[in-house]
Amino acid sequence: MPIVGVPVAPRRSQVRLLVGAILGGMAAIDWAREAERYRRQDWLERRALREVLRLLEPGTDEDLLDVATGPASLLAELAMMARPPRVAVGIDTSPEMLAHAPELPAGWELRVADATELPFADSSFDVATATYLLHLLEPDAKRLAIAELARVLRPGGRLGTVTVGPPRGPLGRLAWPAIQALARRDRGRMAALRDLDPGSELSAAGFREVSRSRTGSGYPSLCLVCVNGSRQGRG
Ligand SMILES: C[S@@+](CC[C@H](N)C(=O)[O-])C[C@H]1O[C@@H](n2cnc3c(N)ncnc32)[C@H](O)[C@@H]1O
Repeated sequence: MPIVGVPVAPRRSQVRLLVGAILGGMAAIDWAREAERYRRQDWLERRALREVLRLLEPGTDEDLLDVATGPASLLAELAMMARPPRVAVGIDTSPEMLAHAPELPAGWELRVADATELPFADSSFDVATATYLLHLLEPDAKRLAIAELARVLRPGGRLGTVTVGPPRGPLGRLAWPAIQALARRDRGRMAALRDLDPGSELSAAGFREVSRSRTGSGYPSLCLVCVNGSRQGRG
C-alpha cells in the first residue's frame, strides 16, 4: 500500500503526550500531535463507520475516495467487508495520521492532500466518504470541501458523511446543550464534539439525501448518504 509523501511517524514521550492532553483544549487541533492518541479511540467511531458503509453499499467495481481518512479506520472496516471495492484512496492533510493506518489491500492508496483542493480529475470516483470531518471545518473550508466532493464524484455517485449528532439517551440529551456550548467556544479537542447536520449544505451543493441514520454507542453520530445530482446513479 503506497503512502504518498508520508515521513516516518514521530515518537512522542509519555510526558509530551500528557502535556499535550492537558493543553490540547487550548489550541486548534494539531492532528500531527493527535495521531498516536487518535488510533486508540477508534472503537468510539466504529459503530458509525460501519453504519455509513452499510448505507452506502460500495460495490467491488466501484472506486471509493475517503476524504480526511486519518488513520484509515473507515478503509480498514471496508477492507474487512466480504467484497470490498477494487480501488480505494484515502487522503488527509496529516502525514502523521496516515502513518498510523493499518496494512490495507494491495492497490489501495493513501495520499497527503487537502479536502478543499482534491488532486483528482472531475468524476473520478463512484463513492466518497467524509467521516468526522465536516463539523471540524470553518464555514468557507466546509463549503469548498463539499464542492470538491461533488466535483470528484461522478454524477449519480454516492457520498457518505458522518458528523457528531445529538445523543439519543435521556442523560446525554440533558448534558448536550452544555457540551455544545463548550464545544462551540473551543478551538481544541472539544471542537471535535460540535454537532452538525450537514443536510442543507449538501443539498445546496447539489446532493440529494437518500438516507440518514443516528448511532448512539461511541460518539453520538449522524450518518448521511446523498447522491450527487439527481438524474443518474443507483439512488
Ligand atoms: C476527527 S479526524 C477523522 C479521521 C477519520 N475520517 C475517521 O473517521 O476516523 C479528522 C481528520 O481530518 C483531517 N483533516 C482536517 N482538515 C483537513 C483538510 N482540510 N483536508 C484533509 N484532511 C483534513 C485531520 O488531519 C484528521 O485526520
